[in-house]
Amino acid sequence: MKKQPIFVAVDTNNHKRASEIINATKNYIYGAKFGLEFFCSKGGREAVKKFKNKNVKIFLDLKLKDIPNTVYKAIKSLRDISPDYLTIHASGGLEMMKAAKKAQSETNKKMKILAVTILTSLTNKDLKQMGSNTPIQTQVQKLAQTARLAKIHGIVCSAHEITKVKKVSKNFEIVVPGIRISNKVQDQKRVMSPKQALKLGATHLVIGRDITKGNPKTNIKKVLNALI
Ligand code: C5P
Repeated sequence: MKKQPIFVAVDTNNHKRASEIINATKNYIYGAKFGLEFFCSKGGREAVKKFKNKNVKIFLDLKLKDIPNTVYKAIKSLRDISPDYLTIHASGGLEMMKAAKKAQSETNKKMKILAVTILTSLTNKDLKQMGSNTPIQTQVQKLAQTARLAKIHGIVCSAHEITKVKKVSKNFEIVVPGIRISNKVQDQKRVMSPKQALKLGATHLVIGRDITKGNPKTNIKKVLNALI
């Protein structure tokens, strides 16, 4: 069976559970995404390395955002992990994204940097509360334009902004979280089904709880069925 362009979000601090999730899904999906919960857990950094060469791509979702020099040095410090994908926040600005790209090209030419636009847990109301009246769609497009100037490889956005991001560049990888096969949206706000997100042009989907809550082997089958 062809692997589907899905990253399973391994959001746990339990390394045994992480192995179970990856073993249950790795034959069907493209990669595993390790975020802050796993990375910050005891021994998390070293544990990420153990999942390399397990026939899954490694996506390190650290969402880096700081002054350019700090982000540059942080990425240089990840040299021993050399993930296939790494996230930074596009809102860190052009110079920060350029610094991230420079660190990537100096340490690991194969690693792809993804710029996170507006978190899928936020709404226009949330942005307004933080002082921005720009609608999310416009804001994501602006952030994608800035990422393109910095020659960033890809964008993380919700499925609702895929069309806008594609207008900025056809070459971007478009990685889309906030994917739901059930109607349990939890803390996510801008959600969509996997089939619809791929149809709109997502190159990869990020799916967490719909796979990891309960039995990942049964859940991945449900996700695969939802793609038919
Ligand atoms: O469980 P769920 O499918 O909502 O998991 C989504 C995953 O995608 C989480 O690991 C979360 O950190 C990540 N993510 C997101 N929104 C972004 C970027 C990453 O939900 N904009």
